[in-house]
Amino acid sequence: MIHNADLRSLNTLRLPGVADAFASFASVSELLTLLDDAERLGLGIKVLGGGSNVLLAGDIHALVIQSAMTRVQVLSQTDAVVRVAVDAGKVWHDWVVESIACGHGLENLALIPGSVGAAPVQNIGAYGVEVAQCLESVVGLQLSTRQLRVLSAGECGFGYRDSVFKRELSRDFVILRVVFRLQRVFQPELSYGPLRQWADNMKAESSDVTPAALIREVCAIRSSKLPSPAEIPNAGSFFKNPVVPTHMGQALKARYPALPVYPQADGSFKLAAGWLIEQAGWKGKWLGNAGMHTEQALVLVTNGQASYGDVTALKDAVIRDVAERFAVVLEPEPQPF
Ligand code: EPU
Repeated sequence: MIHNADLRSLNTLRLPGVADAFASFASVSELLTLLDDAERLGLGIKVLGGGSNVLLAGDIHALVIQSAMTRVQVLSQTDAVVRVAVDAGKVWHDWVVESIACGHGLENLALIPGSVGAAPVQNIGAYGVEVAQCLESVVGLQLSTRQLRVLSAGECGFGYRDSVFKRELSRDFVILRVVFRLQRVFQPELSYGPLRQWADNMKAESSDVTPAALIREVCAIRSSKLPSPAEIPNAGSFFKNPVVPTHMGQALKARYPALPVYPQADGSFKLAAGWLIEQAGWKGKWLGNAGMHTEQALVLVTNGQASYGDVTALKDAVIRDVAERFAVVLEPEPQPF
């Protein structure tokens, strides 16, 4: 256990903050020992994944824990489906690359920063796929009862960048393992415009869309728009794409024909927040040590020196300007830590 641990290098926005204590665990028994230690020290518990979706507001008076468990275990296999259990501490992208040796469905989620354990928390998604589609269950330890629990995908309450782990179980659950249900037959999801174009070009050249080629293309698309947290501090999309009622979506589309809108099953419309932010004049614009990315206005970046105050000042200014212009209120995606 490290006392007075600096968390700056453990969150991808590189925000400053010192935790009373920090420890990683390599087994469930190590985790249980840490919970006892925390109780003795009078500290609460906070769980950190890859730190790529958290907003650190300052010092943390708790024991911050992180899984160092990275095992991948095939549970069962038929001609159609393979079930694989993956430990929470595994780096998400490494798992996506390895997954294609046993099954398919995760290719479009390549290069998303973070850990396997963090993936269900906000139901990560990209290019027409959400992790919920390939997830069978989540195994973890409930802190209040100290009992191991298995939540089926249905019990995880998945929504757009949402799950029970952000709501009812927030602060009370340590995700230990995720069980994936992958397809043995590769059926690529190519509905995202740039992926469809790439696939059409491949066809014209008589090349096949293979799982490895799809992963390479997803990485190329991501790298062209989204800054690598290793180079430029960021937490991916800083805002969720807002979902507005039917009448409001229709009115906005009529007034701004270029606004990208995505009709939802219930008649509501999801709007491209990046477009709204760009039109509000924030693309590539900085306020102090934080700015909105030049290639994708939905991504808040910092110069590595930003404080929580810098980030909230920019967040509030963007929310205010988008609301004034479009009467749409943006909601941040990263979770307060
Ligand atoms: N757009 C602009 N200006 C911008 C950014 C985007 O006009 O600065 C327009 C684009 O031209 C496009 C539309 O907005 O027509 C959508 O942009 P994009 O395809 O880049 O995706 P997004 O809706 O901005 C979402 C996810 C991303 C995910 C991509 C691809 C959210 C909050 N973000 O972004 O997820 O990679 O779709 O599927 O849902 C993340 O959650 O951290 C993340 C990066």
